[in-house]
Amino acid sequence: MPRSKSNYRDGDAFTRMSKKAGYRSRASLKLKEILQKDLSVKKGMSVIDLGSFPGGWTQVVKEKVGEKGTVIGVDIQNIKEIEGTFFINKSISQLEDKDFKEFKEKIPFDLVLSDMAPNISGIREKDDAQIIYLVDNVLSVIDNFLTEDGSTLIKVFQGESLDYTTKALRDRFKTCKVCKPKASRSNSRETYIIGKGLRK
Ligand SMILES: C[S@@+](CC[C@H](N)C(=O)[O-])C[C@H]1O[C@@H](n2cnc3c(N)ncnc32)[C@H](O)[C@@H]1O
Repeated sequence: MPRSKSNYRDGDAFTRMSKKAGYRSRASLKLKEILQKDLSVKKGMSVIDLGSFPGGWTQVVKEKVGEKGTVIGVDIQNIKEIEGTFFINKSISQLEDKDFKEFKEKIPFDLVLSDMAPNISGIREKDDAQIIYLVDNVLSVIDNFLTEDGSTLIKVFQGESLDYTTKALRDRFKTCKVCKPKASRSNSRETYIIGKGLRK
């Protein structure tokens, strides 16, 4: 769908704002908005940021968790180091227990973030299947490495992956909320789901 003029303007404004604030991506502003309204990240928390390249979410979360907190990014694309944070250059589907060996004291995590997105082909069924594949991998990280009562924030796309992920999070978390930050283009299918209070 072609973008309207106002959407270009919105996008540009958020891009300018994020650059001005020193963030590596405009995605950082989406996360900031969600953290202001719907999800709390406290000093000292341990967070894994799946699909972290180029690092905007990692920057925002590091500010929140402070010096004593831990942020570990994971991405297939290598990132330029962000001071005080860690990075694993791997696909989520290749993550193994040994990748977390050096972070033993930081696990279980308090929060699992995922802003991962596959290469969109435009073929809806194919794209939905790819997103659900990524979500299944995030669910595996949640099941294995998230603390009891911990939280998650996962990006999905309106349609099948939203329904699938909402059900999966309702089965696991005490509360589940769908949100669309203003910094997300109104004509984009991307949507975010928050799960709070993991039941073990
Ligand atoms: C929208 S970008 C993330 C932006 C990031 N949150 C930020 O604020 O800078 C989505 C990322 O998901 C990553 N990704 C896609 N598939 C992945 C996979 N299988 N494992 C890890 N990362 C993946 C992509 O490489 C891409 O960098």
